[in-house]
Amino acid sequence: MKIFIDTANIEHIRQANNLGIIDGVTTNPTLVAREGKDFTALVKEICSIVDGPVSAEVMALDYEEMLDEARALSRIDKNVVIKIPLIPDGLRTVKVLSREGVRTNVTLCFSANQALLAAKSGATYISPFIGRLDDISHIGMDIVRDIKAIYKNYGFKTEIIVASIRHPLHVLEAAKIGADIATVPYEALMKLVKHPLTDIGIQRFIDDWNKMKVEVK
Ligand code: G3P
Repeated sequence: MKIFIDTANIEHIRQANNLGIIDGVTTNPTLVAREGKDFTALVKEICSIVDGPVSAEVMALDYEEMLDEARALSRIDKNVVIKIPLIPDGLRTVKVLSREGVRTNVTLCFSANQALLAAKSGATYISPFIGRLDDISHIGMDIVRDIKAIYKNYGFKTEIIVASIRHPLHVLEAAKIGADIATVPYEALMKLVKHPLTDIGIQRFIDDWNKMKVEVK
């Protein structure tokens, strides 16, 4: 499974990328606004750090404007993927962009039927928001399972990005289902690395090693 980092924070992107396990980055307007930086410059900087797809979202909701915005964003860097909301004008925009060879990440997906339409429009990626479904007492991961089955049934090439991940169990479930990608916030990513028994084990090795050195003297 590919792992993307879901943030627009440069320091977090740099640190995660240094681990050597990051395949791409996803951002959204909320994450970008949090950084208080110029959007184009920020996307450019992210692309200079991570050698993989970097999703940048359009703000327009109307087909013509969305298309203009998407084309402008795609000129920032060859790795920019255009994030488009799953609305009728969005699907129309995705269709045109896919014909032009511009990669898209269809976002704010909350049902498998929406994901079916995104794939039919030629989306490169689909982003089901599982955490936000869990928040309203729907099992978010169920739609990932459904999307996976539907895409397999019809041979769609659209890759599933499990988004709105909140904790390590979401990543585990995504991997068990066979999702193509999990996009993980920095804090959850660090929790994947950590295990208390690893830390306890290291400390025990250090203590035993130091005891041996004292005995040898
Ligand atoms: O980037 C899209 C998605 O991952 C947002 O997550 O936590 O705001 O629901 P969240």
